[in-house]
Amino acid sequence: MKVAIVGCGKLGSALARALIGKHEVIAIRRNTSKIELECEKSSSVEDARGCDVVILTLKPDVFRRLTGELKFRDEVVVSFMAGISLKELEVCGKKVAKAMTSLSAEFGSSFVTYCCRNLGEEDREKLLSVLKCFGKVMEVEEKIVDASIAFSSSVAFIARLIGAASFAGVRLGIGSDVAKALALSAFSDSIRLVERNGVEGVVERVATPAGATVEGLAKMMECKAEWCLQEAIYVAGRKFLK
Ligand SMILES: NC(=O)c1ccc[n+]([C@@H]2O[C@H](COP(=O)([O-])OP(=O)(O)OC[C@H]3O[C@@H](n4cnc5c(N)ncnc54)[C@H](OP(=O)(O)O)[C@@H]3O)[C@@H](O)[C@H]2O)c1
Repeated sequence: MKVAIVGCGKLGSALARALIGKHEVIAIRRNTSKIELECEKSSSVEDARGCDVVILTLKPDVFRRLTGELKFRDEVVVSFMAGISLKELEVCGKKVAKAMTSLSAEFGSSFVTYCCRNLGEEDREKLLSVLKCFGKVMEVEEKIVDASIAFSSSVAFIARLIGAASFAGVRLGIGSDVAKALALSAFSDSIRLVERNGVEGVVERVATPAGATVEGLAKMMECKAEWCLQEAIYVAGRKFLK
């Protein structure tokens, strides 16, 4: 299948990397010299016409300015643009979908939420064969796709937390490279453990009465650490809830 990525910047490039090798990709942005991808490149949105799937990763204000040029007929148009509704997308064509993911789509390990309108069986298959390159895929209501943007932002929040964990290691006298490796391992190990044992299951297994872990957990309560992360994700998502 041929897939166009219109607005191939940070997110578009991440999506392109996941698609290259599985589909024929054309990356479109005005300044093609900035496209560092092994695929066809173009500075004209016209070149998206005739592709099976057209991915839109423009900034929403740019999309609204360009709608006159973004007219499609048989192509399946899928937007990853925060805050653009399916109704707004219909100015581009009949077969429209809206999806959300984080930059981790590049590794095929993201969780992709999507919704769509006016797609027949064959169009749905085309859409899914693209979305599945980014990770696990789930069809949800449009408002859930809108709220999912919070989790594409959350990779930045969690990156900061990993930085903070590394810094704690340095404070304890560990060299920065080793501290970073330990922090990364703590985060990835926690994911595996939570998947197997649940959040409270992990806490119970690690914490012993009057031990070091309960001291740390008490400090987290004092600093409202969980509240801070919850609020950061909530405010990021609320920005796009109607
Ligand atoms: N970044 C993320 O982690 C993330 C996550 C989820 C969703 N999103 C969504 O993805 C969209 C893009 O975000 P981004 O962070 O990837 O922004 P970005 O890096 O600025 O990418 C947008 C691209 O659009 C191109 N562009 C601007 N005008 C154009 C035109 N007339 N024709 C063709 N291309 C044009 C720009 O390149 P030129 O200036 O060279 O044309 C730019 O590279 C947003 O709607 C955002 O909500 C982003």
